[in-house]
Amino acid sequence: MISIVAWIGGVAFVTTILLPAVRRMKEPRERVSFFEHIEKKFAWQARATTVLAGISGFYITTVWDLWDRFLSAGYWWMHTMVLVWLVFTVMLFIAEPLFLHRWFLVKARQDPEGTFRIIERLHWILLAISTLTTFGAVAGSHGMMP
Ligand code: HEM
Repeated sequence: MISIVAWIGGVAFVTTILLPAVRRMKEPRERVSFFEHIEKKFAWQARATTVLAGISGFYITTVWDLWDRFLSAGYWWMHTMVLVWLVFTVMLFIAEPLFLHRWFLVKARQDPEGTFRIIERLHWILLAISTLTTFGAVAGSHGMMP
């Protein structure tokens, strides 16, 4: 839970505070590179907390032998936890270092406003599925889900 709080809390801060502030303070041409420069530090926190959350999540699933939950739709929140984790793992460890970072910078030169809009939209989507998952996981693990 400590890694989830640091990780998803960071995503909420970047989405609701940092990105709108960059949009207000910087010219379209500077936004993407300025944002990436600031976000670089958080990317390391996000990578570390994603690894920790994955290790502890799979550890609990194994020790409590909860694997059969993945066969039941009622435990949709178990599936979305793994889905959210997978999306972030692919983004942070594969897509971003391999091509996403370069692709955003190239695209930002052609269409700075549009590229920044895509980055903001992506963050809102990630925050929305993470929030829904957090709600489902707390409600589900405390027996409040049908
Ligand atoms: C590989 C990824 C993950 C695995 C295998 C995993 C596994 C688990 C397991 C086994 C539990 C305990 C369920 C129970 O008490 O019945 C749990 C709880 C929880 N997880 Fe995950 N999880 C993962 C990722 C995530 C992510 C990405 C989030 C948030 C977006 C999240 C949020 C939570 C929350 C809020 C709880 C409930 C804690 C409580 O109220 O007791 N988990 N997780």
